[in-house]
Amino acid sequence: MKIKKAVIPAAGFGTRLLPATKSIPKEMVPIVDRPAIQYVIEEAVDAGIEDILIITSGYKKAIEDHFDNFPELENLLEKNNKIEDLQELRNITNLANIHYIRQKETKGLGHAVGCAKTFVGNEPFAVILPDDIIYSPVSCLKQMTDMFDKYQSSIIGVQTVNENEVNKYGIVSGTKIDEKLYKVDGLIEKPPVGKAPSNIAIVGRYIIMPEIFDILENVKPGALGEIQLTDGLLELIKNQEMYAYIFDGKRYDTGNKLGYLEAIVDFAIRREDLGYKFRDYLKTIID
Ligand code: G1P
Repeated sequence: MKIKKAVIPAAGFGTRLLPATKSIPKEMVPIVDRPAIQYVIEEAVDAGIEDILIITSGYKKAIEDHFDNFPELENLLEKNNKIEDLQELRNITNLANIHYIRQKETKGLGHAVGCAKTFVGNEPFAVILPDDIIYSPVSCLKQMTDMFDKYQSSIIGVQTVNENEVNKYGIVSGTKIDEKLYKVDGLIEKPPVGKAPSNIAIVGRYIIMPEIFDILENVKPGALGEIQLTDGLLELIKNQEMYAYIFDGKRYDTGNKLGYLEAIVDFAIRREDLGYKFRDYLKTIID
């Protein structure tokens, strides 16, 4: 089976980027000149995803506007012969079929993913956490869908983290079966430092079998008092195989201020139209 659907939970408040996120959804905060969520949607499309469900909440209308047509602006750009800008706007609108649903209560990531049950139906699907922007020549989700093609089981994107940071992540344990692949035998959400079974951390990319939905309906609040996706996945491995894949790529946690700044600088430097000048500028201010 191929992965054709992705779910992007985007209902959170983004408190780590306040005050900007008081009125701007954190997913819409720009990295250079495009909102963070556009990077992950492009990643999904690159992996062959055709339908994307964004789980939103009350004040996230700007996300829907960004992926919608804007006839007045398009007409103006056309009139002023700004053809490149016009094309770019149209490309955004045509990226994928984007669907929206509101998470009516913020009860945690597991609850948010559970809201996608009807959209997903009975097929394996991807979950992308939009705070985690991953730069890689072959996109992270493409690497993972390639793994899925081989194993036809749930695949979790992971990277190793410092031992003193395990309490920020879902942590997996398992048996190494290849240089970059583990067969998962345990998962724990945000274990205390010193109590984690490994330093292999979940990094915002999942391919999950649809049996997760029935499980999520019964998951009790766990870490932080929230319904955790990690707890649902732990239940899923009782009946199915699951793999953790150490993907290639640089990950930016754009949900916090330092990670956000790192992303802007790196993405700007990589840009053909800005990179040289920006690099020269940085040299003048760094001793
Ligand atoms: C979520 C997941 C966690 C994962 C992390 C990656 O946590 O619950 O398992 O490691 O994303 O970014 P959050 O960062 O939303 O607290």
